[in-house]
Amino acid sequence: MLRRCIFLLFLFVFAACDSGNSPDIDPPDDDRGYHALRQLSPFPVGAAVQAAQVQNPDFSDVFNYAFNSLTAEYQMKQNVIWTSRNTYNWAPADALVQYGQDHEMQVHGHALLWHSSTPLWLENFVGSDETFEALLLDYIFTTVQRYQGKVISWDVVNEAFNDGSGTLRETVFRNRLGPDYLARMFDYARQADPDVLLFYNDYNLESDATKRRAVLAMVDDFQARGIPIDGIGLQMHVSYNSPSLKDIKDTMQAFASRGLKIHLSELDIRANPGGDLTSLTELRALEQRARTFDIVDAFLDLPAANRFAITWWGLRDPDSWLIGFWGNPEWPLLFDADYAPKPAYFGFVEALEGAS
Ligand code: XIL
Repeated sequence: MLRRCIFLLFLFVFAACDSGNSPDIDPPDDDRGYHALRQLSPFPVGAAVQAAQVQNPDFSDVFNYAFNSLTAEYQMKQNVIWTSRNTYNWAPADALVQYGQDHEMQVHGHALLWHSSTPLWLENFVGSDETFEALLLDYIFTTVQRYQGKVISWDVVNEAFNDGSGTLRETVFRNRLGPDYLARMFDYARQADPDVLLFYNDYNLESDATKRRAVLAMVDDFQARGIPIDGIGLQMHVSYNSPSLKDIKDTMQAFASRGLKIHLSELDIRANPGGDLTSLTELRALEQRARTFDIVDAFLDLPAANRFAITWWGLRDPDSWLIGFWGNPEWPLLFDADYAPKPAYFGFVEALEGAS
């Protein structure tokens, strides 16, 4: 509490000084004027990116300087890769995996099964449920083995639980394969690659206690039955003022207590959840900075073995999916439109400096 008060006091002094950097932190030796997260951090720090973005030299320069982990924003999803029963579109995924390798980045696979990225031909597949499952098994083997040794981890299933009730979402997977389908998909992924890390990924696990309990129950059940699962992806689409830091900490700790690796897998911090702002105010940018600090600080409280990575869902504010999703102006990421690091970036740096 005292630490937080001191930090908030610092924030307002910081605001009054109108400085972009923190007076507490040694200046970076790089002539950019800001530290690389990838150098400071004891765990990988990443961003979700698109194949075309990393071909842009301005984008690549900043992305590769700051980060050492990469997730495909959408080009490793089923509806992009699996264009028809016997055809695959690998080019964008291959390019991203290659980029990650060329720049010594960890590449996280996202996602083998997600109801929102199921190809239409599969959704409408006419054939038996057994054939449907055989197709999925084949897709998992083909995709996981293509990137074996290059992709360190996969989200095997994304967003399988309903908000509020914590019941299983009525997806084509649930409806055709029955309620135990998740266990079989994790088994198939493990059979495809004995070493790749297997994650379950979902949102609102911090704010929705019922949903969180349902996912924890699934983990407990998997572990009791010997179904492989290595980690949990907490998407962390949060706001500058909610959910509470306690809920965020308790959620990370609950999954870590099961021995899982924790991936803050799609972090973004809404600065304008009320939709009232037309530009990012200095105060709101500082509040976003404080929230970034708090989240990274909480992540650092986990045992090192449980810290998989923190991944931001995009690099620059104008690229954020949230703008289209909520239909409001939004500035939820670490860099502005000109590739300049925002106060939130320095909140991340400060949390890391505090840990070293
Ligand atoms: C979003 C991407 O950002 C968009 O570009 C795409 O059109 C739809 O998906 N939860 C997830 C991510 O697991 O895959 C979603 O990404 C955001 C919500």
